[in-house]
Amino acid sequence: MMEQTEQRKILLQARDVCKWYPIKGLSFGPKRHVQAVDHVSFDLYQGEILGLVGESGCGKTTLARTVLRLIEPTSGSVLFDGKDLMAQSKGQMRALRKDMQIVFQDPYSSLHPRMTVRQIIEEPMKIQGLYPDAAQRKARVSDLLKMVGLNDSHMDRYPHEFSGGQRQRIVIARALATEPKLIICDEPVSALDVSVRAQILNLLRDLQEKLRLTYLFISHDLSVVEHLCDRVAIMYLGHMVELGSNEDIFGHALHPYTKALLSAAPQVGQFGRRDRILLEGDIPSPADPPSGCRFRTRCPYAAEGCSQVPQWEEYSEGHFVLCHRFRELDQQG
Ligand SMILES: Nc1ncnc2c1ncn2[C@@H]1O[C@H](COP(=O)(O)OP(=O)(O)OP(=O)(O)O)[C@@H](O)[C@H]1O
Ligand SMILES: [Mg+2]
Repeated sequence: MMEQTEQRKILLQARDVCKWYPIKGLSFGPKRHVQAVDHVSFDLYQGEILGLVGESGCGKTTLARTVLRLIEPTSGSVLFDGKDLMAQSKGQMRALRKDMQIVFQDPYSSLHPRMTVRQIIEEPMKIQGLYPDAAQRKARVSDLLKMVGLNDSHMDRYPHEFSGGQRQRIVIARALATEPKLIICDEPVSALDVSVRAQILNLLRDLQEKLRLTYLFISHDLSVVEHLCDRVAIMYLGHMVELGSNEDIFGHALHPYTKALLSAAPQVGQFGRRDRILLEGDIPSPADPPSGCRFRTRCPYAAEGCSQVPQWEEYSEGHFVLCHRFRELDQQG
């Protein structure tokens, strides 16, 4: 985790990022969109682990891919290491990719079956023109394998010869090959056997500390997020609804949705011994989200004013919330 005294340099700054996917197949009438990510703003500090939490389909992967410009945003801006990503040419973007990598959920589909481990790990170096000398490149692969708990005997083997946990180690070695500043971990252990999850999480944490990496860490698992992350962001239906330090979120959650999520995970945070907050109804479609506060159709505290668009407000330093009623509710305790 990040040391308190460390200068908080912003590595990535996202402002009002929207990603709306057009819905194809309608030839007349107004154009419709899946509003997967809508007006999301956050900072990612160098050297921190920011957790990104929310139910399936709320827009976590879309947000992560959009802020790296792997998919084009509908609108909004992203500064990465001081550079305006949306203003970069294709070539400039390719050069910047050296500093940003993603570890995906499924290590089975993210490794090419006909490439050896060595070829897999060398590929990003070749693309970036790093280690042009073959012997040096091989030595670098050897170092990377050691860093992730594998060794030289694995170099000339193929992905199918490895277990899920080992494959994820290979994926991590490949992500580290270009010495990135930022790694997005998109549910990096949820496809793995429960028995190896802790090992991979420990590896990711050790590497983050040792190499002073910055992670955006996407997860469904609140107990993992509580243990691993310095700060936490909560998403609901394309909106970021709360963002704060680990203590803010797990000790003093403000948004009714965050509280409901925490109450469904009795082993974590402030609601450990409290009653479950049950949410009524289904998640609305992101193609037709409720007006105003998107959570209002399921919120136990929704009132008339919630049909207006809420503001992203800072409650205490660094603790943001998107809710009309959080102050009253907080006072009620
Ligand atoms: N390429 C696409 N075209 C159209 N809609 C998409 C596309 N990708 C995602 N979506 C939709 O955008 C919304 C957000 O999807 P996204 O994959 O970002 O969610 P997520 O939070 O990562 O979910 P999960 O936890 O299941 O991975 C969903 O409604 C999804 O169906
Ligand atoms: Mg996802």
